[in-house]
Amino acid sequence: MQAVIDKLERTHNLSDDEFAALLAPLSPDDEKYLSQRACHVREKNYGKDVYIRGLIEFTNYCRNNCYYCGIRRDNAHAQRYRLTAEQILSCCHTGYQLGFRTFVLQGGEDAYFTDERLCQLIQEIKRHHADCAVTLSIGERSKESYQRLFAAGADRYLLRHETADKAHYEQLHPPAELSHSHRLQCLRDLKEIGYQVGCGMMVGSPGQTLNCLIKDLRLLQELQPEMVGIGPFIPQHDTPFAQEAGGTAAMTVRLLSIIRLLLPHVLLPSTTALGTIDPRGREKGLLAGANVLMPNLSPTEVRKKYALYDHKICTGEEAAECVRCLAARVESTGYKIVVSRGDHITKEGLY
Ligand code: SAM
Ligand code: FES
Repeated sequence: MQAVIDKLERTHNLSDDEFAALLAPLSPDDEKYLSQRACHVREKNYGKDVYIRGLIEFTNYCRNNCYYCGIRRDNAHAQRYRLTAEQILSCCHTGYQLGFRTFVLQGGEDAYFTDERLCQLIQEIKRHHADCAVTLSIGERSKESYQRLFAAGADRYLLRHETADKAHYEQLHPPAELSHSHRLQCLRDLKEIGYQVGCGMMVGSPGQTLNCLIKDLRLLQELQPEMVGIGPFIPQHDTPFAQEAGGTAAMTVRLLSIIRLLLPHVLLPSTTALGTIDPRGREKGLLAGANVLMPNLSPTEVRKKYALYDHKICTGEEAAECVRCLAARVESTGYKIVVSRGDHITKEGLY
């Protein structure tokens, strides 16, 4: 298997059979070799730096009804909230003092947040914190809308593709509302406009097969995103998938390493969902090739309400506590958190 891992590192490509072999149970030696090569590539490109992104979960209103998600429209138990512009700016100020230079505005697809309101908000954040990047993660919008938000100063956009397999996509989302092809069109529009784009899949979502994962990897090869966000699917008790099995930390960590070798320069978070299913999940992610953490900057009083999945960690801690906790966790891996926007280094000049 080490020859296959070397080939992936060298060519950033494998046959479907080789991908399948790499996703099957591996010997402990192969497992170790894979994460070592992934860390080598990550260190070659980004050194030992870990970039932090301040996640601001600014609304949990959502017009969509994804079967897996705790803030889906039909979840009558979700206590809905939406932060004011002042509250969002205050999160940014707190974050700035804690060393954050990227703010991620994430929310459900909430019609209240029109282009006009969002543009004002982005401009205001940029006016106060010109040296910071603004990342949006607010779902599917029109190309014109993405263009306006980019013109207002948004730098990056996270839109997970969730699964690259159309039939599987339809098992995860009501087909009459969300389509696989539109999701992909949004990602292409975002790239074309000039955003640094992040896509990614849930690991172990209901109905996911080995073939779906291979298609996910092929999609990453094709789209060449600057960021890839993957995390385990975790059931949420008020959703149609409440009784489904969740994804595993082992498979998530394996995929992080594979993605690092596939896209050597990618910005790759070790996610809160991974930290939720394994107490050392985020550290394991960093030691498998991830180089980004996205701690929560949302006001403590709304954290529990942004309940995408059950048992989410860090819902009681103040932002400063999370940063202290994370700094110690990162230190235990031999890496270090840096104060930086942490932009993607383009491939130019690196080879
Ligand atoms: N509305 C925006 C969007 O669709 O991109 C951003 C918010 S959405 C809640 C952010 C991500 O949470 C989704 O892309 C999905 O992958 C993840 N997510 C939702 N429910 C989850 C669950 N039960 N387990 C793990 N991840 C989940
Ligand atoms: Fe939030 Fe550890 S990162 S408490």
